[in-house]
Amino acid sequence: MRNCSGPASLVEAVDLLRRGELVAIPTETVYGLAANAWDAQAVRKIFAVKGRPAHNPLIVHIASADQFDRVARLPANGGLRERFEAACDLWPGPLTLVLPKADRIPDIVTAGGPTVAIRIPDHPLALDLLRRCPFPLAAPSANRSNYISPTTAQHCRDGLGADVAMVLDGGPCAGGVESTIVNLAADPPQILRPGLISAEQLSQRLRCPVKLAAATPAGHPHAEKPLAAPGMLPVHYAPHTPLRLLQAGEPPTELRPAGRIAFAPLDATAQAPYAVVRVLSSTGNLHEVARGLFAALRELDDAGLAAIDCDGCPAEGVGAAIMDRLRRAATRR
Ligand code: TXA
Ligand code: MG
Repeated sequence: MRNCSGPASLVEAVDLLRRGELVAIPTETVYGLAANAWDAQAVRKIFAVKGRPAHNPLIVHIASADQFDRVARLPANGGLRERFEAACDLWPGPLTLVLPKADRIPDIVTAGGPTVAIRIPDHPLALDLLRRCPFPLAAPSANRSNYISPTTAQHCRDGLGADVAMVLDGGPCAGGVESTIVNLAADPPQILRPGLISAEQLSQRLRCPVKLAAATPAGHPHAEKPLAAPGMLPVHYAPHTPLRLLQAGEPPTELRPAGRIAFAPLDATAQAPYAVVRVLSSTGNLHEVARGLFAALRELDDAGLAAIDCDGCPAEGVGAAIMDRLRRAATRR
């Protein structure tokens, strides 16, 4: 496995991808585990390395909106075309659009479904790589299934080891939580996974109401194939250490040693019960919280703690994405 970031690495990355190998790539949200989306054999490796169930479809990345027809199929005009063009204004960015799939995309990418998830990541290295690739890149988050998404190249190496040919190092991800997924094929459009682009932003851009889809009922172990969005299953990317979402005024966990993830600075009394405290923002800024959240969860999960207490926030704007991830992480397996 190699770890690289310069132009020579990009040439090598394209070459590896062309030969059907996997390359971990930075994006503005989280790192992705990329393969040539037109190559079913290469995409099969993604599922194998992640331990990802075949019924969970992948997101396909392109370099520019005019490449959409490499991946998706759209009518020349009408509501869907208009919604797509309006949503495109938010690209490159942390927004994934679900559209009818192009024939050229192998079934394995979409888990046999008729739709495909597609996005343009807002990261210079990812965009440079995508422009050099004569094919789109299927890339789920570069973690083993059910663990926390990686936000640094080191997280990718820790999780995937020798199973990935190369990790392109684009530094720590600026966003920190996975993209917002919106199903544009539905009328009105539905958010399948909240992210840094909020429902309010989408409603404004698309000039129609955009609602969050209902979560898969708790305890429902296997949805039909393919899942509407497995990101909606109650348990997802959880740390191994039990995680508790602290309600306002709630006392600290009684388990020891314990860790605490705080969204803003804590006074000495609040810190005292904890062996490790990570403060994600000096002002409680939720964009900073999102940026640091997964790294803090990984760090505390590796710290040999009996339990982790974590702050919460109102589930609005970026807070909706943060609380979505934390509720899943706090669900006991
Ligand atoms: O920010 C992101 O979206 C990152 C970076 C690497 O782009 N990718 C990511 O991929 O989070 P992944 O595989 O971890 O999550 C993809 C989500 C899954 O919940 C999957 O079910 C959903 O996208 N998805 C993929 N194709 C879909 C489709 N056709 N319809 C509905 N949901 C789909
Ligand atoms: Mg993932």
